[in-house]
Amino acid sequence: MNYMKKVILSGIQATGNLTLGNYVGALKNFVKMQDEYECYYMIANLHALTVRRTPEELRENTMKIIATYISAGIDPEKSTIFIQSMVPDHAELGWILDCYTYMGELSRMTQFKDKSSKHADNINAGLFTYPVLMAGDILLYGADVVPVGEDQKQHLEITRDIADRFNKLYGDTFKIPEPFIPKTGARIMGLQNPNSKMSKSSTIPNDTIFLVDTPDEITKKIKKAITDSEGIIRYDEENKPGVSNLMSIYGIIKNKQMDEIEKEFEGKNYGVFKEEVAKAIIEELEPFQNKYNELLNNRDYLEKIYTEGSKKAHEKARTTLEEVYKKVGLII
Ligand code: TYM
Repeated sequence: MNYMKKVILSGIQATGNLTLGNYVGALKNFVKMQDEYECYYMIANLHALTVRRTPEELRENTMKIIATYISAGIDPEKSTIFIQSMVPDHAELGWILDCYTYMGELSRMTQFKDKSSKHADNINAGLFTYPVLMAGDILLYGADVVPVGEDQKQHLEITRDIADRFNKLYGDTFKIPEPFIPKTGARIMGLQNPNSKMSKSSTIPNDTIFLVDTPDEITKKIKKAITDSEGIIRYDEENKPGVSNLMSIYGIIKNKQMDEIEKEFEGKNYGVFKEEVAKAIIEELEPFQNKYNELLNNRDYLEKIYTEGSKKAHEKARTTLEEVYKKVGLII
């Protein structure tokens, strides 16, 4: 009874290899939510253009994310997997919403400030209007819920503001979406710098675990992860960010609460704890990696999935876009 289900839309940018942060903060929830909701999961390749990369890289990254989605457990029979650029409605609504978004509100976006300081030689207008395109992604599908990590919260807030502004001007058009930000794991931190989020683009060695890392790489990175001198496995984000971060990762994978983990490792040292964390990650990623490698060698299957998914997404998105065109007075 699909028509009764609430709608989910979320996406991941087509930029390089995904991290354990993407997996824990977003992907795992995408998978969990697919039975209960009508889900649309997209590969945000238009967003990826805001940072320079070669065409080959962008194409390959897009395929990698499709393979990642399926390998992580998103079932194309249940959820719609699609590519943003194959559904032209995204770019079209993005433009319209640009005209209902203020420079002032966009300049307050922390991600814009962050990214412009990292790419000082390429602060393009796309980087600035990035959240508007994202608002369009969400609003086209009438999404009730958007599962994301903590770093996307501000983008969800601006999406709600834009939708509300439009609805006030033209009458009820957009559903106001709710973010779904998990209690644990919404902000996985770097292993070397646990005060800043784990990121695909970190330049610090051993700071990031990638989903394609080998067991040896994972063990080495976890062993080297920064902890503290207290020697007690205890959750305290402020004073023990490194240990708390490892606990979050372990908790999500093992489906355990922080107090359970504290009990489990009572009287044990960091060495033992780290070994278990590494083991949990390796065990979690092994089936994922096997499937991922198999899928990347089966391009025809990937193409079938994203072609069918994008067609379905386009049908849904078009209805919203046409309503918007009519409401604002555009002739189509
Ligand atoms: P992106 O590609 O940067 O990240 C994808 C998802 O992973 C989450 N995430 C994390 N969660 C926990 N800890 C971390 N260290 C961590 N790093 C990343 C992100 O919060 C995100 O949920 N703008 C989006 C892509 C996007 C989108 C959308 C998302 C485009 N359109 C519409 C939702 C709805 C982005 O850049 O995510």
